[in-house]
Amino acid sequence: MDNFTFYSPTCFVFGKDTESQAGALVKRFGGSRVLIHYGGGSAVRSGLIDRVKASLKAEGLPCYQLGGVRPNPRSGLVYEGIELCKKENIDFILAVGGGSSIDSAKAIAAGTVYDGDFWDFYSGKRIENALPIGTVLTIAAAGSEGSPDSVITREDGMFKRGASGDAIRPKFSILNPALTQTLPPYQTAAGITDIMAHLYERYLTNTREVEVTDRLIEALLLTMIHEGPRVIENPDNYDARANIMWAGMMAHNNSCGVGRSQDWNSHNIEHELSALYDCAHGAGLAVTLPAVFTYVMNHDVMRFARAAVRVWGCQMDFDHPEVTAREGIEKLRRFFISIGMPRNFAELGAREEDIPALVQALCYGNGRPGSISGFVTLDEADCEKIYHLML
Ligand code: NZQ
Ligand code: ZN
Repeated sequence: MDNFTFYSPTCFVFGKDTESQAGALVKRFGGSRVLIHYGGGSAVRSGLIDRVKASLKAEGLPCYQLGGVRPNPRSGLVYEGIELCKKENIDFILAVGGGSSIDSAKAIAAGTVYDGDFWDFYSGKRIENALPIGTVLTIAAAGSEGSPDSVITREDGMFKRGASGDAIRPKFSILNPALTQTLPPYQTAAGITDIMAHLYERYLTNTREVEVTDRLIEALLLTMIHEGPRVIENPDNYDARANIMWAGMMAHNNSCGVGRSQDWNSHNIEHELSALYDCAHGAGLAVTLPAVFTYVMNHDVMRFARAAVRVWGCQMDFDHPEVTAREGIEKLRRFFISIGMPRNFAELGAREEDIPALVQALCYGNGRPGSISGFVTLDEADCEKIYHLML
């Protein structure tokens, strides 16, 4: 196991009706002038924004609103939010929504207290300082409610890139599983896929002797395989949604990623798809993961075979572990299809003729050196072959 520091200071408030505590929590973490930041309207339609506003009002906290965050959030709204925060002396940002609203809030939080262009953070500069943020989560997926990360798409060039720093870990996150019951089945499934991808990206490691985190990841994957179909079958199943919501947080706050190298090539490969086609990130991952895994499997075939046996219940073929490994990847692919995710480029809305542009943006865009690195380093030719495997 590698040396590590793990700092996860977020206060999680979990369960039914917990959004009513938003005002008290903002106050507890020092907020006095609040920006509520949210998406395209689901939180308005469900009455959630009104309930959150009432909770802030009950604590005597003035609040401003900035809605309109799109899935795969754009830099344009971040600039607008930074201006608003500076003009109104906002000292706390409350994101209400999913990963997109939370990531946009994180970008605004970092950009407001920074003299330069906030995009510097999405070009490699670490975030050291930010306004405090809190979240009210409405979809179990990205794990941004507990992560030090934010992913934004820059309209100029349509680059989708990430930024990191403990300063943007939320001070608190309110997780009420009942709020996810209004999700369309496709978004629920995309969230399940993203959570599983966050687990696999950590499972694919070159670090030896990481039994505790291996076992945590396997347990969370088994939970997703159990609860995913239950919630697709019955969207009102509170208990299944509760288990998925907490698994989504644990999958990505890095408690099961410490002390080990991680992959993230699948995420980088997918981010080009959701940047270009504006597809749901999880849907892109459903097509990406099996292709990447098939391509890199032989780098450590026993790791894939181990997942096949422990997570997917396959029988180990000791003479031919590659057969077991392949069987596990196939079971993963079929699982994604069974919950309603796309199986290939066409179903995702992607086009074969765009592959050269995708590879170019992936390997060279926004200052990349011609390759991406993780479990395996992948150059242009590798990435092109992987996109072809998705056809
Ligand atoms: O905008 P509204 O109207 O709210 O609709 C949203 C949106 O259309 C809808 N939705 C959310 N909660 C709902 C709901 N509809 C009905 N009822 C509810 N309760 O769902 C759609 C997707 O929302 P979004 O916030 O985009 O989903 P998600 O949480 O999957 O976030 C995806 C973004 O997170 C990034 C992705 O790249 C993508 O941009 N990621 C962020 C990470 C991080 N910060 O740590 C890590 C992830 O790997 C990921 O890359
Ligand atoms: Zn993800």
